[in-house]
Amino acid sequence: MMIDITLEVNGASKTLSVEPRRLLADVLRHEFGMSGVHIGCAHGACGCCTVHLDGTPRLSCLTFAVQCDGASIRTVESLGGSEADHVLQQAFKSEHGLQCGYCTPGFLMTLAPFVEEMVAQKRMPEEGEIREAMSGNICRCTGYQGIVAAVRKAVTVGLDAGAA
Ligand code: FES
Ligand code: FES
Repeated sequence: MMIDITLEVNGASKTLSVEPRRLLADVLRHEFGMSGVHIGCAHGACGCCTVHLDGTPRLSCLTFAVQCDGASIRTVESLGGSEADHVLQQAFKSEHGLQCGYCTPGFLMTLAPFVEEMVAQKRMPEEGEIREAMSGNICRCTGYQGIVAAVRKAVTVGLDAGAA
């Protein structure tokens, strides 16, 4: 059985027929060409597949595409828009938070809303809050110190911009 659904992915709308069992992650990669979406564990443990579903981080390996009919989805390809990198992407570069292509997109998509929330609240999060915010994202091989530093840097830049 195939079901017709319409998804808006990074601003582009498309209607397609999918089997009910197809994962959102697979549809994003194979039907929309969003190769930044990665499947690491395929059972909700690593966070590699995180995208934004109607503005909220969501594990695309635990989401069926048919559940998203009519939804707006953002992948790492659209983070920051077409003009410039998101402040968190810039901080990942400067603070050595960039790691491999599997885990990094998930960290960015999980933490970008967190940074935006902290800037909106006009406060710097405690280290424990940062680590809690990214506790659903796993790196199997490196560490998290650069990512924590990148979040701090991004929040600092955001707060400075707000104060300017
Ligand atoms: S691939 Fe989705 S959480 Fe690991
Ligand atoms: S899983 Fe990406 S650097 Fe460890």
